[in-house]
Amino acid sequence: MKTRIIGTGSCLPKTVVTNEDLSKIMDTSDEWISSRTGIRERHLVKEETTASMSIEAARRAMEDAGVTAQEIDLIIVGTLSGDYVTPACACEVQAAIGASRAVAFDINAACSGFMFALNIANAYIQAGLYKTALILGAETLSKVVDWQDRSTCVLFGDGAGAAVVRGDEQYGLLAFDQGSDGTKGDVLACPGRTNNNPLVQTDETLRYVHMDGQEVYKFAVTTVPASLQKTIEAAGLTPADVDYFALHQANIRIIQSVSKRLHITEDKFPISLDHCGNISAASVPILLDEMNRKGLLKPGMKVAMSGFGGGLTWASAVVEW
Ligand code: COA
Repeated sequence: MKTRIIGTGSCLPKTVVTNEDLSKIMDTSDEWISSRTGIRERHLVKEETTASMSIEAARRAMEDAGVTAQEIDLIIVGTLSGDYVTPACACEVQAAIGASRAVAFDINAACSGFMFALNIANAYIQAGLYKTALILGAETLSKVVDWQDRSTCVLFGDGAGAAVVRGDEQYGLLAFDQGSDGTKGDVLACPGRTNNNPLVQTDETLRYVHMDGQEVYKFAVTTVPASLQKTIEAAGLTPADVDYFALHQANIRIIQSVSKRLHITEDKFPISLDHCGNISAASVPILLDEMNRKGLLKPGMKVAMSGFGGGLTWASAVVEW
């Protein structure tokens, strides 16, 4: 039996902020952002929250999959920007959709969060513990980026993506690779809350994302093609057998580099970063949902996915859709 994605959903905040809009509030330009990243606009929250976007994405994925809340055994949200330290965003989703039978928890693997959630759900399903899981990637990155740092804040956006997965006799997950390198955690980091206990002296109240962009770039363009190659081989395939590559949407240059290294044309790498920016854990499931709703994905098609980012973490999967 294989673990198969049987439905997808996504939710983006209503408000769109273009590069031109950003150039009115900081020293940047559409030319700088789009030529270096491929990003033209992103959606940023006003009233929406990480949980409200997750709940909407979850409802859409359940509708697409044709499953009821009572069928869901497990809910995992990959996020680094939940609304609360506790309860977990997954518990908020569980309450809102009425999945009272489900076990719900969040994981933090930064931009690899959805992919790690997929593999955790796969492990539970393969172990026979659960049948149906709802997995999400959801982020409100606009509250954790430093809006005084033009080299990072222009890259990120907000949103949520979801998928329902279930055991299937015919199609599903063929191979998986995942890894972490905690020794390079500082190249993309966001400190948590400062400690205000009476024994600790600290002036800092809030601290935000900081990134060594060039180090992250080097990590991505070496690790991602190697991880994809390994996963595709483990699935008994070659890159040419893969119908689509759904990669984490960080930067068009990273995607172009992966396409070159795998000798696969760019038309097999669908893009959402132009209108979403980088939404960390949410970017792979949002892209999958867009592909699904455009009718690009047919049963049995081979889809390679890859997430990579803070931690450092990375994960790839090959599925038969
Ligand atoms: N607008 C205008 N100028 C900007 C700017 C902005 N938003 N941000 C930075 N600059 C300036 C810098 O100050 C620098 O100016 P200087 O040469 O006068 O010092 C110049 O642009 C070049 O900056 P640099 O950091 O060398 O640019 P770069 O070519 O490395 O591109 C990134 C920066 C962030 C686009 C690139 O490093 C990258 O894509 N890295 C990967 C990041 C990523 O994907 N992270 C998430 C992974 S999950």
